[in-house]
Amino acid sequence: MNPTVRTAVIPAAGLGTRFLPATKAQPKEMLAVVDRPAIQYVVDEAVAAGLDDVLVVTSRGKSAIEDHFDRMPELELELDRKGKQDALAAVRALAEGPRMHYVRQGEPLGLGHAVAMAADHVGDRPFAVLLPDDLMVDDAALLRGMLGANAERGASVIALKRVPSEEISAYGCPRVEPVDGPLVRIGEIVEKPSPEDAPSDLAVTGRYVFSPGIFEALAKVEPGKGGEIQLTDAIGELSTSEPVYGWVFEEGRYDVGTPLDHLRATIEIALAHPELGEAFAALLADVVRRHGLD
Ligand code: UTP
Repeated sequence: MNPTVRTAVIPAAGLGTRFLPATKAQPKEMLAVVDRPAIQYVVDEAVAAGLDDVLVVTSRGKSAIEDHFDRMPELELELDRKGKQDALAAVRALAEGPRMHYVRQGEPLGLGHAVAMAADHVGDRPFAVLLPDDLMVDDAALLRGMLGANAERGASVIALKRVPSEEISAYGCPRVEPVDGPLVRIGEIVEKPSPEDAPSDLAVTGRYVFSPGIFEALAKVEPGKGGEIQLTDAIGELSTSEPVYGWVFEEGRYDVGTPLDHLRATIEIALAHPELGEAFAALLADVVRRHGLD
């Protein structure tokens, strides 16, 4: 029987150069989207999909992430003293979530290298990888679907977003064959192809459910584009020894590692926010009118 996936690996050791100077002294995973840091959405998504063990791959300057998911007794005492019970509950809940573990990636040698850092923790079980740059606003529907397909097929499943052809050169892009509904079988996979060379309009995005075979594949790949160990190359390698599937989705994803998409996420998540949504919608309508954008 295929073992159940319990662990979410969250690679968070990158330099965040697309969001400088905001990310010079602050992890990009801790940039707030409305009222919580990006990484909190991702941990919540993992929990909503049934995972209860989280391994964050961190690096120098990222200790704010560990502090965020830890107890903070002085703050809790002060909130209690001031009768701020809602804030107290929110702060405490962060330390009472899934089991959090951390491993350091000494040098940013690439996403593939970051995932390889999880090998000892994960062992011989399937596991999920969630990139904290990619915020999914879908009640964990995508990840749930992928975990279901992994359990059914006993194989790796990669999230694939359909993108316009001019955007494909920012992503890994696979050749695929249809299987069943959103499920496709992945063949060859190309990192950042030009639109003319792209084998499909499907972009590898930041949710993966891997069989432990990915670690062997990662050990085989050489540094690729940008001198980094590319996860995409390891997925291609894996697909030569075992089946790899893709799960196609269209909507609900924001790349909060870039200022523009971070703004889009902020606006849309704020509009849907149970307490802020109504007031924010009025504020936004006013801004739109005053700037003559209506
Ligand atoms: P990105 O390339 O989007 O992140 O990697 P980055 O390198 O931090 O950002 P830019 O491109 O310079 O703006 C995708 C994910 O992989 C992690 C990043 O933290 C991000 O979550 N990553 C990347 C690592 O953990 N280690 C690495 O060596 C590279």
